[in-house]
Amino acid sequence: MNLPRRCFDVLVIGAGGGGLRAALQLSQAEANVAVVSKVFPTRSHTVAAQGGINAALANVSPDNWLWHMYDTVKGSDYLGDQDAIEYMCRAAAHLVIDLEHAGVPFSRLENGKIYQRAFGGQSQNFGEAQAARTCAAADRTGHAILHSLYQQNIKAKTHFFDEFFALDLIKDISGYILGAVVLEIETGQPWIIEAKCTLLATGGAGRLFRTNTNARINTGDGMAMALRAGIPLQDMEFIQFHPTGIAGKGMLITEGARGEGGYLINRDGERFMERYASHAKDLASRDVVSRAIYTEVKEGRGCGPHGNYVLLKLEHLGEAVIKDRLPGIRQLTLTFLHLDPAENPIPVYPTCHYIMGGIPTNRFGQVVAPYKEGAEEAIPGLYAVGECACVSVHGANRLGGNSLLDIVVFGRAAGNHIIAHLKKHRYHRALAADDVDQALARLARWERSGNGENMDELRAELQSVMEQNCGVFRNKTVLEEAVKKVTVIAERLQDVRLKDQSKVFNTARLNALELENLVELSQAVACCALARQESRGAHYRVDYPERDDIRWLKHSLYFKGQTQIEYKPVRLKPLTVETFPPKERVY
Ligand code: FUM
Repeated sequence: MNLPRRCFDVLVIGAGGGGLRAALQLSQAEANVAVVSKVFPTRSHTVAAQGGINAALANVSPDNWLWHMYDTVKGSDYLGDQDAIEYMCRAAAHLVIDLEHAGVPFSRLENGKIYQRAFGGQSQNFGEAQAARTCAAADRTGHAILHSLYQQNIKAKTHFFDEFFALDLIKDISGYILGAVVLEIETGQPWIIEAKCTLLATGGAGRLFRTNTNARINTGDGMAMALRAGIPLQDMEFIQFHPTGIAGKGMLITEGARGEGGYLINRDGERFMERYASHAKDLASRDVVSRAIYTEVKEGRGCGPHGNYVLLKLEHLGEAVIKDRLPGIRQLTLTFLHLDPAENPIPVYPTCHYIMGGIPTNRFGQVVAPYKEGAEEAIPGLYAVGECACVSVHGANRLGGNSLLDIVVFGRAAGNHIIAHLKKHRYHRALAADDVDQALARLARWERSGNGENMDELRAELQSVMEQNCGVFRNKTVLEEAVKKVTVIAERLQDVRLKDQSKVFNTARLNALELENLVELSQAVACCALARQESRGAHYRVDYPERDDIRWLKHSLYFKGQTQIEYKPVRLKPLTVETFPPKERVY
């Protein structure tokens, strides 16, 4: 174990908003914190979040946190845990003001207050009228938040390991997590980073799908690390398809475009959302809008020469509003479509955007597992927040604007819990030589030379299987095929060889390690989706079109290499208010 070795109080893996919010809380409390990031921190995927962050500030419409909670529970199709949802919605206003004080340049109303726009699934008075709850910095809100959090961390003296890739968690014989083995990308040197607590904040895995809104780095590294450490993943069948990706390409056109008054039309010029969601129309929840677009195209009402997209109309908003409120998407469409949304509608189609499932945690960010006889325990030394975690506030379908909120609320909560933990656990636990064997073996596997499968082709095949078989509409046949196909891909992965064995900035090796992670997760998604015989939120089974609360109001748990799925109950009881009991979800 003759490797470079560093010791910290806390190791945070991932430098998106969740990791940086937790690190800030910790560094400000004078903990010694290391953040490991495979890219320079401000290139983390949070930077791409466009439309905004939800908080019931009531700057534009009447609002309160209980209505936000109601919308989130309903949006989740009742699979969200109501204690965690209450905690998040109550904390939202405080956390947004905190961001404002950290320097986030929110857009402003005439009266100087933070600008808020309408987003999907938002209501006043428990569904009676549309609310405007999403606090926005034009359509570059994630960019503004990430840069502010990074600057605050620099000020608070958080230690950054930029361009280090986390290989695996270090777990001792008693199951305690002692840190991680990470790879210095510049040199190819593995390092040991020891910590009293390790927090996973590695984001999502949108790169599972060919068409997606995600950064190239979103390969589910933390979720796969958890699986390899014996921790199950929760609710992996629930994949969010954002209704308005640029058709054929996938890049995000923010829901904020519809929040500002944009709407969707089909080839007949019809505002078809009126047929699918007569009340909320274009601002129904994302699962509903995605299914509507898919149906329009399938039934021959799609636009363009191949009829394979619908159009998002924004021209009526006028150039001034578009330039002021939606400058980012204007730039995107000018660059990728040579189209100005002030003059022409945008071709859009659903695109993979977000993974609702992830590493099971409680609302303090502690990773919890396994679920046995009505109880689950915290994995000692391990926390997770953000998209890689499943707390579960999003349940079967996340509302737009709740992702940026989730990362700051639970990033801070995990930071606070770790601070309390550090007060009681002052020393590092001893690390044995063989605690790092798994991580080093994982790396060594890529040193095998010779001829074999081509990595890029295998990744493309994986993404195509996921797109064809685990998309917006699913059934038993396509899901069984998905399970078979990803199992074969996992076997073929063993035969992939790298032609370039060099150490310095070997991006092929990095891509191979990422592909391993994606393959692990594809098995989780396909197996959980096949097992769940109902339609709920983003998981729509054509062969089981109804939600079935009697049999399926429960969370799935997938363990590595196990096709048999385990389950645990949804926490329906909030912290202080009455339960929102499951009822039919209409928009
Ligand atoms: O449409 C959007 O701006 C995305 C926001 C979100 O996913 O929360």
